[in-house]
Amino acid sequence: MTYRQAKWTEPIIFELSKKGRIGHNPPTSDQREREVAGDPGLLVPYELQRRSPPNLPEVSEIEVVRHYTRLSQQNFGVDSGIYPLGSCTMKYNPKICDRIAASTKIRDLHPLQDGSLTQGILEILYELSEYLSEITGMQKISLQPAAGAHGEFAGALIIRAYHSHNGEINKRDEILIPDSAHGTNPASAAMVGFKTIVIPTVDSGCLDIDALKNAVNERTAGLMLTNPNTLGIFEKNILEVSTVIHEAGGLLYYDGANMNAILGKTRPREMGFDIVHINLHKTFATPHGGGGPGAGPIGVVEELEELLPVPLVEYDGEKYFLDYDRPRSIGKVKGFYGNVAILLRAYIYLLSMGSDGLEAVGELSVLNANYVARKLWKSGKYAIPYYPNKLVKHECVVSVEKILQETGVRASDISKRLLDYGIHSPTTYFPLIVNEALMIEPTETESKEQLDLLVDTMIGVADEAYSNPEQVRKAPYSTSVSRIDEVRASHPETMCLSWKMKRR
Ligand SMILES: Cc1ncc(COP(=O)(O)O)c(C=O)c1O
Repeated sequence: MTYRQAKWTEPIIFELSKKGRIGHNPPTSDQREREVAGDPGLLVPYELQRRSPPNLPEVSEIEVVRHYTRLSQQNFGVDSGIYPLGSCTMKYNPKICDRIAASTKIRDLHPLQDGSLTQGILEILYELSEYLSEITGMQKISLQPAAGAHGEFAGALIIRAYHSHNGEINKRDEILIPDSAHGTNPASAAMVGFKTIVIPTVDSGCLDIDALKNAVNERTAGLMLTNPNTLGIFEKNILEVSTVIHEAGGLLYYDGANMNAILGKTRPREMGFDIVHINLHKTFATPHGGGGPGAGPIGVVEELEELLPVPLVEYDGEKYFLDYDRPRSIGKVKGFYGNVAILLRAYIYLLSMGSDGLEAVGELSVLNANYVARKLWKSGKYAIPYYPNKLVKHECVVSVEKILQETGVRASDISKRLLDYGIHSPTTYFPLIVNEALMIEPTETESKEQLDLLVDTMIGVADEAYSNPEQVRKAPYSTSVSRIDEVRASHPETMCLSWKMKRR
């Protein structure tokens, strides 16, 4: 397959702006005359109106359409090709979810409308939280958090509130985290004021139980864990882990980023977890990444229910309502009901899949990952350092260390070269415990042909690393942007996040 991205020299839309150019004529009104006349019946009272026009680019409709079409041609997305970004679950998201979420009946709702006018959306949110309760086994769900990391932060606040209510917060200041964990886990715990204690991984890819037992003490506030973990391995000792933490008086937090692997098979509740977040923007119909909106609802067991962030969507037998009257709540973590358009996509996805469909998601995502892992391993080109019984769950982590030593080609070079063949890079250099890591999550939505394309291309690129290492090290060639200066892109001195920032 040949792949070539468009290459436009595209200015930012503010640079396209020409004074006085118009793309849209809003309906005229007699608003101004009524203001001048002091009309008291104005929809937006004068004192609440903007005094100056918003700073928007002045462009025509066709300029806007071309601008964004060109940008999209310079991008790679799930809709362009296979996107095996491990831990991110970049699966195909059914378009029906977008279509319904964009319907005017939903889009035109305002969060400040009276509850009597928003019963429909409240009912949807209530049902969604019930479904998520069922999927996770948690007693109650709050839909507020806007991302996985945000859910973790809210969860860490709940852990802190729980120990505060027990009068133990000054004593319990440590959260245990495996060395395979996603960086957001320790970051969230630290933001809430906890110290983080790292627990190592053993050769089987699971948490070192002995090290865990040694680390646990009266200072333990809890443990944060994803299962399957970021190596794609199911923590088979999870019940023992749960007993160790609970006997020490701590709480068990489930990072639900890898929920795809267990759908319909098991639930965090049965594994002994007390708090859970779910990345709706991975498992349930919204693409992850790119900084777009997400949703990371959190759920808790009965004992922690009162601590959830407000508001919760409730039903009193006659009407749905937002419950703010929760004195022990950790408070509010997001505006209004949360990211409703993302919540809605998840709801539509759940209804369209049904329970059998969700179980098939779990099974196929694991089957596909094993197909890829086994073929790569058998090829002898890539090592899989943590590969017990030659089985994984929904993803696998291969190491490029041998290729690096023999050719000088790194994991990042291979990732970039895959783009030349229309394949998005796997997650690169994560988890940190695998040298030269490529983390591959093919997801359940890819066909056998696509999986074969991925494996064959990876094998071909490994061969190319030996025959022409220079070629691989300078890749990609077919994308609109080749290698970026990653230090400059992320250094606080030179980072440019907005068109308003000084360009250097
Ligand atoms: C294992 C794991 N945990 C947590 C997160 C954080 O989720 P989010 O990106 O929604 O903040 C991620 C994100 O990729 C992840 O892979």
